Amino acid sequence: MKPIAASFLPPVALDAKSSTPMYQQLSDWFRRAIIDGQLRPGQRVPSTRSLAHELKISRIPVLSAYEQLYAEGYLETFTGAGTCVASSIPGGASKPSGAKAWSAPPKVAGHSAPRRISQRAALMHGPPQTWLSNLGAFRVGLPALDHFPLATWSKLVNRHARHAPIEVMAYGDPMGYLPLREAIAEYLSTVRAVRCEASQIVMTTGSQQGLQICAHVLLDAKDLVWMEEPGYPGAHQAFKTAGAQLIPVPVDHEGLDVAEGIRRGRGARAAYISPSHQFPLGTTMSATRRLQLLSWAAANDAWIIEDDYDSEYRFSGRPIASLQGLDTEDRVIYLGTFSKVMFPAMRLGYMVVPKDMVAAFYAGRDAADTFSSTLYQVVMTDFIREGHFARHIRKMRGLYMERRTTLLEAIQKYVPHELEVIGAEAGMQLVALLPPDVSDVAVSKKAAQKGVSVRPLSLCYLNPPERGGLILGYGGAQLQDIRDGIRKLKSCW
Ligand SMILES: Cc1ncc(COP(=O)(O)O)c(C=O)c1O
Repeated sequence: MKPIAASFLPPVALDAKSSTPMYQQLSDWFRRAIIDGQLRPGQRVPSTRSLAHELKISRIPVLSAYEQLYAEGYLETFTGAGTCVASSIPGGASKPSGAKAWSAPPKVAGHSAPRRISQRAALMHGPPQTWLSNLGAFRVGLPALDHFPLATWSKLVNRHARHAPIEVMAYGDPMGYLPLREAIAEYLSTVRAVRCEASQIVMTTGSQQGLQICAHVLLDAKDLVWMEEPGYPGAHQAFKTAGAQLIPVPVDHEGLDVAEGIRRGRGARAAYISPSHQFPLGTTMSATRRLQLLSWAAANDAWIIEDDYDSEYRFSGRPIASLQGLDTEDRVIYLGTFSKVMFPAMRLGYMVVPKDMVAAFYAGRDAADTFSSTLYQVVMTDFIREGHFARHIRKMRGLYMERRTTLLEAIQKYVPHELEVIGAEAGMQLVALLPPDVSDVAVSKKAAQKGVSVRPLSLCYLNPPERGGLILGYGGAQLQDIRDGIRKLKSCW
């Protein structure tokens, strides 16, 4: 077994006043740590000299303890590798490691009754999300990571990481790195018709954080918020955990039904919408509904939270202009993210807030987690300024079109009567309605066992829907995986 590099040793508790000799206290401590799995088989332990130095004791008890532990088979030595925990120590003493795309939330052992958690935390619990364990077909929200220009990206990361100036490593501005905010302001006004200046842009760790900050800055407990029905579960979570009351407002072929919102949620303080590409149904909000919503917000002193998560990817015509660009009353908070156009693990997104709200959002951003990683912000600035961003989006648009066509053909070939496709005009996912009476959660669970990830549509509803469906992400799936995935799905209901 290759020795595992020395890592931090858990705190060693020694009692100088104890009648137990120091070497014995030490060997007892090591034995316990190895059996409990705090020290793993093959893990390197400190040399006797450095441990004695760290514990501020003489080297003799450390030497005696190590000798004892060799003799008992807990430690072994390798030439050139120093002293390690014996690799033959039984598995129970070690913790499993291994990279998995997603793991179920850990259960706390040793408590028979569930322990008390806050009401807020209880609201975050949902059913086990088995469909998150796979990173291939049809994981929702995953871009084509296999086509990401890694060589260019890593060159830019290297450029800034090698000789990082102090500003890149110290605490940064809660609003974000100014040159990036300037680049984003230019991009948004050109491509998304957003009306903004860099001073109105607040960098976040992604839209999810943007939603949380909006909820905290704009709403008080029990305030009513209109939510698209069906809608984005992450938004449900953000507003629920802030104590807001969620009002489901149906979405039809024109987007959110504003008249129905007024009927169901009079006095609401805010509306959450994804007008360019509704999540999950894929509809585009009509101009009439946009204007209705804006005039409702102006007349009722309400906010509109516009989630513009993937509208760069439209397959015919130009991207739909933002709702924020139509707003003359400063009622819209616009949310964008680099998760879909770059990669989700980057954790970078942004909000565009009205000028008179900048101070409130500055405080909200600061309270959330101070600021976003400066290194990635600096690298992203170059990525945009040097033209890589526009090139990457153009390339991905063509690729997603091909993946979408393959998915539609596979559905047509293998399950033409079982799945009814809606919302395939844009983005990286579509919805396939299931036959009535088929449970989408049950299908998703079965599919996960076959290595296929499909997200149940019913979980996007606040009230139980009449018909279940599957959200199929195709952005991150290769063509053959798409075909195989649909063939495997056929046997899941
Ligand atoms: C509609 C919608 N909004 C927001 C997000 C969150 O994205 P982020 O990774 O920026 O938090 C997603 C992610 O899938 C999404 O689908």
